[in-house]
Parts: sequence; structure tokens; C-alpha cells
Amino acid sequence: MHRFVTGATGYIGSAVLDAIIKGGHRVTAIARDPEKAEKLLAKGATPVIAELGLPKMYLPLLMSADAVVHTAFESSPRGVQVDRLALETMLTAQRDAMAADGKARAFIYTSGVWVLGRTTKAAEEDFPLDPPPHVAWRPEHEDLVLAAAASGLRPVVIRPGVVYGGGRGIVSDLIKDALNGIVRVVGPGKNHWPCVYDHDLGDLYVRILEAPLAVGIFHANDEEDERVSDIVEAIAGQVPQRPDIRYMPIAEARKKLGTYADALALDQKVRSPKARALGWSPSQTGVANSVARLVEEYRNAQREKNE
Ligand SMILES: NC(=O)c1ccc[n+]([C@@H]2O[C@H](COP(=O)([O-])OP(=O)(O)OC[C@H]3O[C@@H](n4cnc5c(N)ncnc54)[C@H](OP(=O)(O)O)[C@@H]3O)[C@@H](O)[C@H]2O)c1
Repeated sequence: MHRFVTGATGYIGSAVLDAIIKGGHRVTAIARDPEKAEKLLAKGATPVIAELGLPKMYLPLLMSADAVVHTAFESSPRGVQVDRLALETMLTAQRDAMAADGKARAFIYTSGVWVLGRTTKAAEEDFPLDPPPHVAWRPEHEDLVLAAAASGLRPVVIRPGVVYGGGRGIVSDLIKDALNGIVRVVGPGKNHWPCVYDHDLGDLYVRILEAPLAVGIFHANDEEDERVSDIVEAIAGQVPQRPDIRYMPIAEARKKLGTYADALALDQKVRSPKARALGWSPSQTGVANSVARLVEEYRNAQREKNE
């Protein structure tokens, strides 16, 4: 099976790439710079230098792929516009390819649980959306992907929780801050974050790729309903010297972080029944339960970066 992967040099994408390659699939993955392309090659993918905002660079690669896994996202003011262009390019190419050779194709889009907004009960995939401003654009992109079912494509939207593991992401930033002696939390920290371990998330992408009937929205979280203050306390207890923990009033956090502050302050409980129905069972159950391992993984990632 031939998979086309975007964002394979990123946090989620690299975990997904590792899992897809481990699953024995052939992968073409785009990268923006030659050094990162070399790393993709070393992992066993076929790298191609391409930029999401320039469709001509990757359009020809899409015809031969039986699945597209889109994990890339450009964090810049034009990020949403680039994502829209990339989605339209890839979905149209897949529709054309199916019309040409009649073979089934799948498209996996990486969204996130923040689109749900504050949850009033444990939210399954059919929970009504109420996205905070930071991701207000995202439901339209999910809809664009899901609408491709009408042309015979198998569209999937994965909504990961806050990803933990390795050396990147929000939880790793908390570990880094704790090691540096001061952790800032947005709001009083009583809110719950739905979280997912990066390797478990990679495993879910592969399960979905390999299940021909898996379609539509999939939540991806370990269902531990952890409070942010408990996550931070667990990390603080795992570093050599207890850090200062500062709970920032939301108004102050907004001044520093803009709309991102409200996303971090969301109180969410999420369930992932569709993933579990595929036999997915997260190996790590919560940040607090895995904190020793996570600090170790963070240190190893820093060591590798500095080598
Ligand atoms: N991390 C989380 O906890 C989390 C949770 C839920 C949802 N999500 C969503 O998942 C997606 C990926 O998140 P992430 O944390 O993996 O982000 P990330 O670590 O920043 O990775 C982004 C990836 O996209 C690539 N990219 C960015 N702009 C590009 C462009 N113009 N052309 C080609 N490639 C481009 C990056 O390449 P370079 O290596 O060249 O920069 C990188 O591979 C985002 O939509 C995010 O909102 C993330």
C-alpha cells in the first residue's frame, strides 16, 4: 500500500510516519528542507521536497497514493489559508485519481478536540461543536473533508487530544519549564485536558488506514480526564527541584498568548468510542501516570537534538 504523508517531520506526523512504516506500508512524505528530507529517508520513507502552499510541487505524487495522511499545519498567519488550499488540492487529486483507475482511496485529516469547545458531558464524536476563536476555522475544513464521501472517497477526521511523549508539544513544554524552575498555567488549572500518547496516536492512524470501513470522525484520547493542575503537580514532583507554579489569570494569559490562552483553558472530557471499536487501547493512560517515562523521553529527545 502506498501512503502520501504531509507533516512527517512534525510532532504528530513523525509518530504517525514511524507507525505507518512499522506497519509495512510504502510512504512518500514531503519535507520543506533537505536536511529534514534526509531524516525521513533514514526512517524508510521516500522524501520529496515540497511546500503545501505550492500544489504543483506535490500534485503529481498524489495519483499513485491509495491514502493521503495530512498532519501538516503551518503555524503562521497564512496557516489556515494554506491548509484550505492543500485540502482542496489533495481531495480533488484523489477524486480525479479514483475516476481514472476506479481504485478505493482514503484521506485522513488531522483536526483536534479543541473544536468541541467546553464539554458539558463526556463528548463522543457526535457532540455538537463550539470551537473557541483559536480554532473557529477548523469545522469548515473538517466538513470539506467529510463531504468528499459523496465522490466515493473514504474521508476520516481524527481529533487528537493534547499529545504527550517525546520532546515536543504542550506537555513537553511544561516539562521543559519545570526543569527550568517555573511553570505558568493558564487559569486556575481545575480544567480537564483530554490527552493522548504520541505512539498510541500513531497506532490509531495505522488502524484506521488498515480498516476499509473506518470513516468519518474519530476522537483520539486516553479518556483519563486529567486536571491540568494534577498534570503540572505530577511533573513538578518528577524533576530534581520543585519548580514555582504560577496560575495566571485568564485575562493576563490572553494578553501574552492571545486566543491560544482560551484554548488552553478549555475544560474538556472526551471519549473515543470509534477508535476503541477498532481495537485501539492506549498503552499510556494519562500524563500523571506516565510522568517518569515522559521526563526521560524529554531528556532523550534533547540529547538527540544536541548530538
Ligand atoms: N500537538 C498536539 O498536541 C495537537 C493536538 C491536536 C491537534 N493537533 C493538530 O495537528 C496538526 C499537527 O500538529 P503538530 O503538533 O504535529 O505540529 P508541528 O509539530 O508544528 O508539525 C507541523 C508539520 O507541518 C509541516 N509544515 C508546516 N508548514 C508547512 C508547509 N507550508 N509546507 C509543508 N509542510 C509544512 C512542518 O514541517 P517543518 O518540519 O518543515 O516545520 C511539520 O512537519 C495541527 O493541525 C495541530 O493543530 C496537534
